[in-house]
Amino acid sequence: MIPVSARNTYLRSCKKRGVFPPMGISDRRSSRPDYGIDAPHVLRNFFLIGVPCLLLGIFGPRQVRISGMFLHVRPTFFWMGWIFTLQGFLYLLYVKFGKFHHRDLMLSLHRWRGDEQVLDVGCGRGLLLAGVAKRLAALDGSGLVTGIDIWSNEDMGGNSETATRHNLELEGISDRCTILGVPAQKMPFPGGSFDVVVSNLCLHNIYDHATRQKALGQIVRVLKPGGVAIISDYKLIGEYADQLRSAGFSIEKRWGNPLYTFPPLRIVIARKPLGNAST
Ligand SMILES: C[S@@+](CC[C@H](N)C(=O)[O-])C[C@H]1O[C@@H](n2cnc3c(N)ncnc32)[C@H](O)[C@@H]1O
Repeated sequence: MIPVSARNTYLRSCKKRGVFPPMGISDRRSSRPDYGIDAPHVLRNFFLIGVPCLLLGIFGPRQVRISGMFLHVRPTFFWMGWIFTLQGFLYLLYVKFGKFHHRDLMLSLHRWRGDEQVLDVGCGRGLLLAGVAKRLAALDGSGLVTGIDIWSNEDMGGNSETATRHNLELEGISDRCTILGVPAQKMPFPGGSFDVVVSNLCLHNIYDHATRQKALGQIVRVLKPGGVAIISDYKLIGEYADQLRSAGFSIEKRWGNPLYTFPPLRIVIARKPLGNAST
């Protein structure tokens, strides 16, 4: 029998590392898919700044004098607090609801046959993986989807291969999915392996420009001629479009729905020309 204190310390360390404890030690695995909070520190910072500012704006002094100048505390902090708190709520709205709509919008940009080989770059806890696999299954096709990720907990709360597998099992589509812990810039697949590449909110996390270029180069390489890349992000969309265009792809850009994406997301739809085997 494991002492309760040791068990709790172990469970806390698992939570910190974002991994599930083995079954039997804890039965606290959720029974519903949980796609996590994207960049949890961003959400925390909105409220960490917003709420104290709002409180100061409501209950603080009307004005204070600093080096002979008057600072109008109440209105200034009230509006600052409002803006940060509102952004926190909009972000939460995306994380809890909007991302499912955005995923569906992204996947509606391709006419699915059911037999596609699909790659999700930066799959996180499996949001797009599950969406793609369900579409392939609904069409009764032979298609399969592969997700790659480095499972950074800074970019996605509770991120881990185990958490992703657990979600896919709960969704009942794990037989159509393969997940691999490899970085986008070092894909192990042969050229021309995929009909469709999807990616949401991953590439901006590669801070170094040259490494980001390598990741996009890998997308170009692993797509089959005639294949399509659907890449969504809140910034750098122009950069992705330019690199894919210079690799010979035809490019379309569009906005996500600003009602449920925060920060507003954009999408690049890039088609690889036929006859361009593995540039
Ligand atoms: C904000 S999350 C989005 C996850 C998922 N696409 C979604 O929409 O729910 C970004 C993901 O990109 C992954 N990521 C960051 N850098 C990566 C890299 N170089 N290669 C592969 N994945 C990466 C992170 O681990 C994280 O899971």
